Amino acid sequence: VDVHISLEGRRDLSGEIYRQLRQAVLDGLMQPGDALPPSRELAKRLAVSRTTVSVAYDRLWAEGFVTSRAGAGTFIAEHVPLAPAPGEDRARPASLRARPVWEDIPLPRLAFARPAKFDFRTGLPDASFFPFQTWRALLADQLRSEAGGNAIYGDPGGFLPLREAIARHIAVSRGVVTSGENVVITNGTQQALDVIVRTLLGPGDTIAVEDPGYAPPQMLFRSLGLVLDRVPVDRHGLDVERLSEAARVVYVTPSHQYPLGMSMSLQRRLALLAWAEAHNAAVVEDDYDSEFRFGGRPIEPLQTLDRSGRVIYVGSFSKTLLPTLRLGFIVSPPSLTEGMLRAKYVADWHSSVAHQVALARFIDSGGFARHIRRLRTVYEARHDLVRTILQRDFPEQLEVIPSAAGLHITALARPPYAARLPDIIERASLRGVEVHELARIAAGASIGPAVMIGFGAIPTDRIAQGLALLRESFQS
Ligand SMILES: Cc1ncc(COP(=O)(O)O)c(C=O)c1O
Repeated sequence: VDVHISLEGRRDLSGEIYRQLRQAVLDGLMQPGDALPPSRELAKRLAVSRTTVSVAYDRLWAEGFVTSRAGAGTFIAEHVPLAPAPGEDRARPASLRARPVWEDIPLPRLAFARPAKFDFRTGLPDASFFPFQTWRALLADQLRSEAGGNAIYGDPGGFLPLREAIARHIAVSRGVVTSGENVVITNGTQQALDVIVRTLLGPGDTIAVEDPGYAPPQMLFRSLGLVLDRVPVDRHGLDVERLSEAARVVYVTPSHQYPLGMSMSLQRRLALLAWAEAHNAAVVEDDYDSEFRFGGRPIEPLQTLDRSGRVIYVGSFSKTLLPTLRLGFIVSPPSLTEGMLRAKYVADWHSSVAHQVALARFIDSGGFARHIRRLRTVYEARHDLVRTILQRDFPEQLEVIPSAAGLHITALARPPYAARLPDIIERASLRGVEVHELARIAAGASIGPAVMIGFGAIPTDRIAQGLALLRESFQS
């Protein structure tokens, strides 16, 4: 039987194969006597090692789900045990089901939690630089019983001194023009996007996204019943000419396109703003890692170029501080701020106040700017090292996409390696090198086989050895 198995991430692949096959039997998709695919064939199809499949088959066999006949293969057993799997409850049947839209929205893999010897995974900053001691002191100060305001709900827009501190900070660092009242503090970019689209759009409305693009917002938009207009990007960024007339909002990452890494050219930025004006659409500018720009003149944010109040700027502290703080912000055009505040209020009233106060003080003391300067030096050294090694040692394997910002470099796999990329990445993993294949973590149809080399989490002095091991994985 050609049973469908889908694997995501790199964690517990045997367990995943076992669970999906077991479920296929319990759901009646596979009947007693049906043959399982030969382990060698399934391993090849799923791009995993044969041992990974054999471990899953052994477990099914040990539990009586399958029998094996020497020389003939593995078959579903005549009497399949119907004991509930851990977590299932037979006394209470599953009467309720989540809406179908959730079925193809995967939970984040715990892959991020697993330590790696050579960690080139993307999306992770270097936590060892986080000013834990300072932060602890700032928080402790807030969490005294006599600190005012702990027992009452706060402002949906956030702690006003933090909003003002952010407005001042991004005026200096990015030239973004705003005032504290138009900054809304959110739980990261993801919630910022939730608040923005719920303020502007309803089910059936169209939102344009980059293809390839950052996956979590696209899942959010789908869950809200929005129609996605996937617009290809080229080396200048989003191809404005391919935007659908129906798009009411355009969501872009102009400073450092996610996942490819280039920045949107000035000409494209102006074309996008002109398009938005002509179509009375809004533009959401996700500036998630622009603090880390290495060389080159920074291109002005869309928010600064905007003359008609239609750009909504979103920032995050996930890269500059820690992703687990869940702190981000929206810079709203004044005409939308009231709506944004209401949308934030009905979502969760407001973000955690103690962390907001700590951050306001950290910014005001100059500590945040110093922290960023220090990190920029570290990340720039890593960026240059990764780029140099990729260009020098992988000329036949990879084509590096030029990028001068952020915490990752993306490289397209050249033929014949392109077809074998999952295999290569698995071999690297066996050598202790964790890298992400672009298709596994970014969304979109126009993605060729590519790797994303993150350098946020790997200490600088491990990069050369890690990339040498990756290089070996391309050979055998
Ligand atoms: C394109 C993009 N936007 C935003 C973020 C940060 O999201 P959040 O602030 O929700 O942690 C990331 C993190 O990897 C990202 O890749």
